[in-house]
Amino acid sequence: MNASVFIATSLDGFIAREDGAIDWLPTPDGTDEDYGYQAFMDTVDVLVMGRHTYETVLSFGAWPYETPVVVLSHRSIEQPEEQDASVERMAGPPREILQRLADRGLTHAYVDGGRTIQRFLADGLIQRLTITVVPVLLGEGLPLFGPLPHDVRLQLLDTRSFPNGLVQHRYAVVAE
Ligand SMILES: NC(=O)c1ccc[n+]([C@@H]2O[C@H](COP(=O)([O-])OP(=O)(O)OC[C@H]3O[C@@H](n4cnc5c(N)ncnc54)[C@H](OP(=O)(O)O)[C@@H]3O)[C@@H](O)[C@H]2O)c1
Repeated sequence: MNASVFIATSLDGFIAREDGAIDWLPTPDGTDEDYGYQAFMDTVDVLVMGRHTYETVLSFGAWPYETPVVVLSHRSIEQPEEQDASVERMAGPPREILQRLADRGLTHAYVDGGRTIQRFLADGLIQRLTITVVPVLLGEGLPLFGPLPHDVRLQLLDTRSFPNGLVQHRYAVVAE
């Protein structure tokens, strides 16, 4: 089972303000540039996201995913209003979560949410990271990265810059 991260951060490494707000992310500018999002989603067969990220997505209104979503939480979760949305709750060690999904024949998980990503990274379960850096300093907020039991070495695969100042880095995690 492969697992990837595809996320936007501020230049100082935050994925949201302290209260979870993502108002600083660029809004669609009328072009059809999606920063590689759809091409990435086409490779993914399940999303695994933390409860906080799920609650942010629910607050957007219309359910945005065709891909099945697994929400990690120790408590029950609200279901989206859309009948065809596939949302399931799981809890437990990240390795066991991915094993359960692999047992269903799934092959590539998109792991989303700050604390969730940190835990999957610490457990050595992420192979690819695509990080799109937004040219803004927030000063404080929810960090993408956190404590690790050991260094995680990354190999830079490529970097792309966009006319609006976004810079996207793709990394492979170097296997231990
Ligand atoms: N900039 C971006 O591109 C981007 C992308 C994604 C998210 N975000 C933002 O990031 C914020 C969320 O990040 P976050 O760090 O606060 O949290 P998060 O990772 O979305 O959610 C953390 C929660 O997930 C649950 N969880 C995680 N791993 C678990 C496990 N193995 N088993 C059971 N439950 C588990 C726990 O929920 P319980 O407390 O319910 O047990 C935990 O409190 C949101 O504001 C969102 O908008 C930004």
